[in-house]
Amino acid sequence: MSQKKLYITTPIYYINDVPHIGHAYTTVAADVLSRYYKSQGEDVFFLTGVDEHGSKIAEAAKKAGKKPKEFADSLVPRFQQAWKNLNIDYSEFFRTTNPEHEKIVKDTISKLKDLGFIEKRKYTGLYCIACEKFLLPDELVDGCCPDHGTKPTEHSEENYFFLLSKFSDKLLSAIEAGNYQILPESRKNEVVGKIKAGLDDVSISRQKVEWGIPFPGDETQTIYVWIDALINYWSAQEVFNQDNIWPPDIQLMAKDILWFHAIIWPALLMALSLPLPKKIFAHGFFTFGGQKMSKTRGNVLDPNVLVEKFGADAVRYSLLREFPFGEDGDISEEKIAGRYQNELANNIGNLLNRTISMINKYQVKIDQSRKEYSDETISRYPIAEFSKDIENFQFDKILQKILFIAEFANRIIEENKPWELAKNNKEKLEEVLQSVYEFLKLINERISPFMPVTAKKMKKQLETLEPEPLFPRIEK
Ligand code: MSP
Repeated sequence: MSQKKLYITTPIYYINDVPHIGHAYTTVAADVLSRYYKSQGEDVFFLTGVDEHGSKIAEAAKKAGKKPKEFADSLVPRFQQAWKNLNIDYSEFFRTTNPEHEKIVKDTISKLKDLGFIEKRKYTGLYCIACEKFLLPDELVDGCCPDHGTKPTEHSEENYFFLLSKFSDKLLSAIEAGNYQILPESRKNEVVGKIKAGLDDVSISRQKVEWGIPFPGDETQTIYVWIDALINYWSAQEVFNQDNIWPPDIQLMAKDILWFHAIIWPALLMALSLPLPKKIFAHGFFTFGGQKMSKTRGNVLDPNVLVEKFGADAVRYSLLREFPFGEDGDISEEKIAGRYQNELANNIGNLLNRTISMINKYQVKIDQSRKEYSDETISRYPIAEFSKDIENFQFDKILQKILFIAEFANRIIEENKPWELAKNNKEKLEEVLQSVYEFLKLINERISPFMPVTAKKMKKQLETLEPEPLFPRIEK
């Protein structure tokens, strides 16, 4: 068996509609991590995909006048294209209608049954279709789902239950021992609090949902879409012939689905005696004009439109720059436009452009072969610090630090006035431009996982010394 690959996952997104900027956020973050780890010599397996079963998808398909599978088939290319537009270099794209996956899900349920972790019981509760879950009365806001603002409907049925309550202590010790890291810390505390308050067993089958994987041994029910979906991370090994990825190293998601990933998911794995993921990170939610953005509310930003306008890199940059990963924040096209102009075009882009132009104009000899940075340059952002920041998911801070380097280098130019040095101090001129050139190389290296295309263009310009605007003016 070859060496363990670094396994990074995003959630598999519901395919009831086209991808929106919230999906793009998690996927871009995963791509940045994946590119960074690859640059450090790791073999990375980066998985994303779509969640195709459940009533939410069946309903959307019905509205579109299509069969669920046919409907999903029509949307898969929309996800793949959006990720291509955003330069997401995933390893594989998962679909839960994959027959191998379906078989593994069934086998997993049978195994859990044999192990005595599944029981049949009657259940009555309030069900939110958009969430695909039962809501507890104290979760409701004015009688409505807090996430979707819609009234849940009362559902009563006989279901198969997974005996989650048996896993409280085991979960707590795994979390406390750090075998299973839940990040950020505040989220971990939330999860620990919930476990300590007591876990109820969870229903893992549905009587009324036809569009799903049949429940083994009882064809009148389908497997709850969330169980089907979580198992994708595991079945990917078989589906994509990967024998060296388990366990996942980093699983990303937003806080909305932390419960499933931080409690149900590890409990399922424990029941099956399988190694747990190492780290899961629940980031915050994008709001739009202060409101939660969701397909159900219809206030979504289309990543493709943004990419068309600003280019993939500027969108990637703006998403991760706007607020700390882990906190909530507001996003808008105006905010992206502002970052594009002030930070990318006027700061980084301008620095590159004016530096190369001056090197050419004043015929300054730059030592391009230097592999090592001078102490002065590297001290602005040493690789150890960068690695620590990225491994701690501090994307906003990293981008801010990179921007500071650009601002600093621009200041060096302002203060030393190469246009005057060109007249009377060639030696100093060379020194100043060499130093700015090095800062550009450092910026180039550090932005590369975030803005891969820009990094490539920048690198080329630094080699050929042929200037070309990195961030052209945006047509309004
Ligand atoms: N299908 C389930 C996930 C199953 S994973 C085994 C699901 N799908 S979803 O389409 O609703 O995607 C939820 C995820 O999309 C969030 O956890 C987050 O990664 C991303 N986001 C969706 N909307 C978002 C925002 N408004 N803001 C930030 N991230 C958002 O849940």
